[in-house]
Amino acid sequence: MHVPNLLQQRFAEALLGITEGGDAFASMIRPTSDPKHGDYQANCAMPLSKKLGSNPREVAQRIVDALKVDDLFENPEIAGPGFINLKLTDDFLLSTLRNMLGDVRLSVPRVESEQTIIIDFSSPNVAKPMHVGHIRSTVIGDALSRTLQFIGHRVITDNHLGDWGTQFGIIIYGYKHFGDPEVVMANPVAELTKLYRLVNQLIEYRKAIGALESLQQAVTDATTAVAKSQAELESADAEDPQAKKKAKKGLASAERRLVSANGTQAAAQAKIDAVDQDSKLSQLAGEHPKIDTAVLEETAKLHHGDPENVALWERFLPYCKDEINRVYDRLDVDFDHTLGESFYQPMLADVVAKLESQGLASESDGAICVFLPEFDAPMIVRKQDGAFLYATTDLATLQYRREHFEPTEILYVVDTRQSEHFEKLFAVANHFGLEQVKLVHVNFGTVLGEDGRPMKTRSGTLIGLEGLLNDAVDRAKQVVCNPERLAVFDPPMEESEQEAIAETVGIGAIKFADLSHHRTSDYRFSLNKMVSLEGRTSTYVQYSFARTQKILENAQKCESDVIEMVAEHGIEFTHPAERDLALMLIRFEEALQTVHKDYAPNLLVDYLLDTAKVYSKFNENCHVLKAETETIQTTRLMLVSLTGRMLQVGLGLLGVGVVPRM
Ligand code: ARG
Repeated sequence: MHVPNLLQQRFAEALLGITEGGDAFASMIRPTSDPKHGDYQANCAMPLSKKLGSNPREVAQRIVDALKVDDLFENPEIAGPGFINLKLTDDFLLSTLRNMLGDVRLSVPRVESEQTIIIDFSSPNVAKPMHVGHIRSTVIGDALSRTLQFIGHRVITDNHLGDWGTQFGIIIYGYKHFGDPEVVMANPVAELTKLYRLVNQLIEYRKAIGALESLQQAVTDATTAVAKSQAELESADAEDPQAKKKAKKGLASAERRLVSANGTQAAAQAKIDAVDQDSKLSQLAGEHPKIDTAVLEETAKLHHGDPENVALWERFLPYCKDEINRVYDRLDVDFDHTLGESFYQPMLADVVAKLESQGLASESDGAICVFLPEFDAPMIVRKQDGAFLYATTDLATLQYRREHFEPTEILYVVDTRQSEHFEKLFAVANHFGLEQVKLVHVNFGTVLGEDGRPMKTRSGTLIGLEGLLNDAVDRAKQVVCNPERLAVFDPPMEESEQEAIAETVGIGAIKFADLSHHRTSDYRFSLNKMVSLEGRTSTYVQYSFARTQKILENAQKCESDVIEMVAEHGIEFTHPAERDLALMLIRFEEALQTVHKDYAPNLLVDYLLDTAKVYSKFNENCHVLKAETETIQTTRLMLVSLTGRMLQVGLGLLGVGVVPRM
């Protein structure tokens, strides 16, 4: 049930006799925040009155006179300067709820025009362990996939693995120089990870040494700039507040620059110290002074088909995939396709040739480039040395997807830092046969530590994803399975049930916390907050679900019993908390539609949290087992049953599970 859409149609009909172009006015409908003003409010009379040159309250009256909504609403009221307030009738609410009973879709219809939507998400660079940064794409992409599919679209998910890049040069180099074949083959995943980390550390060490001088210079410059700004502030005319304000601002910005320069320098120094202070590492660093360029050479050899490197790549790739698949299993995420970058390699030369033949690409300094009027820098599709790039692969991927899946929409769930890449890609795609396909960069911000800086361990490497999941599950166990809480369960909770609960709650907490922020904002990762039973957490919603199940269990009723009770005793509202809950339940479809509109699962999160809150109010105010009459009890059992299912389905669309008791 999508009440605003329904209302909009009715308003459009009513406006037909009043103005031309009424649709724009008809869409001005909002749910109210204060029940005093009804459930929905239409704000179109004021702007319309300007257009018609008449009094807004009179215009509102004309609209109300023409409006046919008595099957849904009580008599519309005109308030203030011309707001039209609308309150749903209890009959409408009750019959809508009755229709939801026993319906797996909870009365959410499938969309009228089905789109084919490809979602490109997760897409990690394999051969290095997944870290906290990979959470966002994986979790947001999965939630979008589940939700869009539920509302009726044909969704195709594709994990565009980075399985062809420098990271393979890194492990190939590591294997050749530091690897013991027997040790590696005995425990490939762990050993390859170790080799990756070692070589990467030595590369970072070289880079840090190379950068140190300019980083020091940056600190010196920033220090000078601070001193200059300080002097400017001191000499600023005390009588001129504008000048003083400007000087203060200048100083603050110079200070920020200094903090950041110091931070970058300290990070580089820490990388150098970590190697210098370890005799084994510093010996290796001494023995491999050109490791950074050597790794690039190994990568280039792989790309040129060097038999030894290709054989190593073929041998290692399955282990790298095992490593990430473990994480996907744990997160309950899967993909229709996992076509990595390597899959498109045979198509790249053709893509470049096609771009050239269509006059889109041309040579510049030995490289092949696509020049775009809207960008200063061109998109390079083949480097001087003949190597293809990330962008070339993405163009080949677009072609392949168009030919094989015929999408109407492609969503790329990728970090905001790749915005420029996607802007260029989409611009080229527009001339490359994809003008009919809606291409969207579903971008997202950074996961920060509790200190507000990008999340790192003390040694400076990114925190591994698996470790993080384990921590969340441990924390969840402490919170929901502590002795005090466990004491009340009858029958008592076995260890295995406790573990299952901790897993569902812990993993759910990480996903939900991520999804609860608008994807474009950065957020601070705090395990303690995200697993808490209070606040904006999945634990709270899961707990609300468990409460619904407890009530149904105590009443010994399931939803099909409730359906029979409704037929026998009828239903009615006798307490405002019942009506408030009903109003939330019928808004499920609205919440799902907005998720698609903005590609923003946080809107579903908000909806579930609001529903859980309203449900808690209902619980406080409305006895179910001790209800005064059978009709009241039936109404309440219906609300409890539907709320439980709504929370379960809604969390499920976010990829978060529930447990029957906790
Ligand atoms: N592997 C890339 C990275 O980790 C993300 C790939 C996103 N998808 C795409 N089609 N470019 O940065």
